Amino acid sequence: MIMRLVWRHPHKVLWLLGAVPVVMLCLADQAQASFMPLYQVAMNPRCTNCHVSDDRPRQTDDRVIHIMNVQGRLRDLGQKCSSCHGEKNLKEPHLPPGAVGWDLPPPELAFKADMDPFALCMQWKNRMTNGDRSLPELVNHFETDHLVRWTWLPGPGRTPSPGSHKEFVAAAQTWLKAGAPCPEESKDWMKRDAQFSTNLSESIGGW
Ligand code: HEC
Ligand code: HEC
Repeated sequence: MIMRLVWRHPHKVLWLLGAVPVVMLCLADQAQASFMPLYQVAMNPRCTNCHVSDDRPRQTDDRVIHIMNVQGRLRDLGQKCSSCHGEKNLKEPHLPPGAVGWDLPPPELAFKADMDPFALCMQWKNRMTNGDRSLPELVNHFETDHLVRWTWLPGPGRTPSPGSHKEFVAAAQTWLKAGAPCPEESKDWMKRDAQFSTNLSESIGGW
């Protein structure tokens, strides 16, 4: 039957053969695109204000350094987050917001400003840098964690995380089902690589 097809409609077969890589590329693109909504949420100030690498939480939509010299390491010396942050938001802007378990994450969980989607994706898939979670546990964290949920109800004067919490969880589940693919390493890397080759050829050319 296949031979007959090839015999009778060679152009169709050629077309099909050509289409296969295109379809595969599209699927790969789609799978990679599934991480982007997660990246957009994680990099918004509601998440990054806590997920810092320098022990100093940030505040407000402008990500300014936390007032009153708050630092994670001072927790052990009595400066507890819970002295000011309760389990609920207070009603006025600029009062400490609150949610159950308010705390500073360890630095390896930081979402740094210079992280591209590839870097964040790799961080989340590595147990050393994702709080030692399996991927389903990570998605469960997104669904149930009080601090994650708080970012969509952050209290007066703070912009909520983009989209809705429901959409975020749905996006995380889609990503998980697709096999948790990571986007390609940023094009900057390729640019750097191209730059490197140019520099190299220039320097070789100069010999
Ligand atoms: C109030 C501070 C705070 C906010 C806001 C916050 N986190 Fe966290 N996050 C933490 C702390 C603390 C931990 C460590 C918890 C633990 O290990 O149990 C953590 C852990 C994590 C982890 C590691 C997985 C895990 O189960 O520990 C991920 C991923 C994460 N947060 C993502 C987010 C995202 C995405 C947002 C925004 C939607 C967010 N966090 C908002 C404090 C925060
Ligand atoms: C002395 C009181 C106090 C202590 C202690 C304190 N905070 Fe705060 N925090 C505040 C106040 C007040 C605000 C609100 C500032 C504003 O909105 O202008 C705030 C805001 C924040 C925000 C900003 C939320 C957002 O997205 O805008 C984060 C994150 C935060 N605190 C984390 C922490 C962490 C983590 C700790 C413990 C290591 C901590 N804070 C300890 C008083 C405190």
